[in-house]
Amino acid sequence: MNVLPRREDSLMGVAVAGFDAVGAPDEDYATLRKLVHTEKIVVLKDQGLSAGQFVEMGRRLGEIEVYYQPMYHHPEHPEIFVSGNTGEAGVPQTGKFWHHDYSFMPRPFGITVLYPQVVPQVNRGTYFIDLGRAYEGLEPELKERIRDTTAQHSVRRYFKIRPTDVYRPISEVVAEVERETPAVSHPTVITHPATGESVLYISEAVTCRIDDAQGRALDDGVLRELLTAVGQLDETFKHPNIHLQTFTQGDILLWDNRSLVHRALHAVKPEPTLSYRVTVHDEYDFYPGIGA
Ligand SMILES: [Fe+2]
Repeated sequence: MNVLPRREDSLMGVAVAGFDAVGAPDEDYATLRKLVHTEKIVVLKDQGLSAGQFVEMGRRLGEIEVYYQPMYHHPEHPEIFVSGNTGEAGVPQTGKFWHHDYSFMPRPFGITVLYPQVVPQVNRGTYFIDLGRAYEGLEPELKERIRDTTAQHSVRRYFKIRPTDVYRPISEVVAEVERETPAVSHPTVITHPATGESVLYISEAVTCRIDDAQGRALDDGVLRELLTAVGQLDETFKHPNIHLQTFTQGDILLWDNRSLVHRALHAVKPEPTLSYRVTVHDEYDFYPGIGA
């Protein structure tokens, strides 16, 4: 595998040429995971994997987390989460808001792997913000206010109504969402287990409140101030923290789901698009002490 030098104007990420996903020895997979943890985004160029080989790649990386909602599953490979509007499978217009994958779950996973199948001609790409670097740049006073706090994460605001929900009372759907995916708490600032860096772990879409060490909610203004400072409320996408990652046919993107929030870029006038995704737990706990 050949790690290509990063472009000087790019905030994060490296491209890798010549990664043989099928034949690579375990050491290469370990190197790849390390690269994701340190560079935050890795783009593997010129990949031509079948769906089955893509799942196998996920297994080589770690323990695959199968998405909890079957409507996203690939028809033959439930390990693959399908998003797209081509009508074959999966769900259109996913992820058009700042989020981490699975932060609303008790045990999120460390690495997301995206394999675009049908790439739009314009408006291609995904926005990212590195919340490790963003935390470092926060005003000391704001850092002090969130010391020893936890943040609550809930899927309720962006839960997608399923085909099976049509004609159901909304109160019943909401009650089911709260029962099956109740809000969870994670530290507002987590330690990245691979790099040791402190990472702000909040997102515009999923974080609903911040609690002090006694479980009392902080003023809403604190969450808003944090989201504003790191760039998640900037609708112009000009905030210096925001990175637009583009991709071309044959790319496989891996990113660090601990330190990056991401947001899909969808055209106003939708073009055909289809992506496969697998998500994996790497060799580390999501953060030290999770679940304790
Ligand atoms: Fe996502």
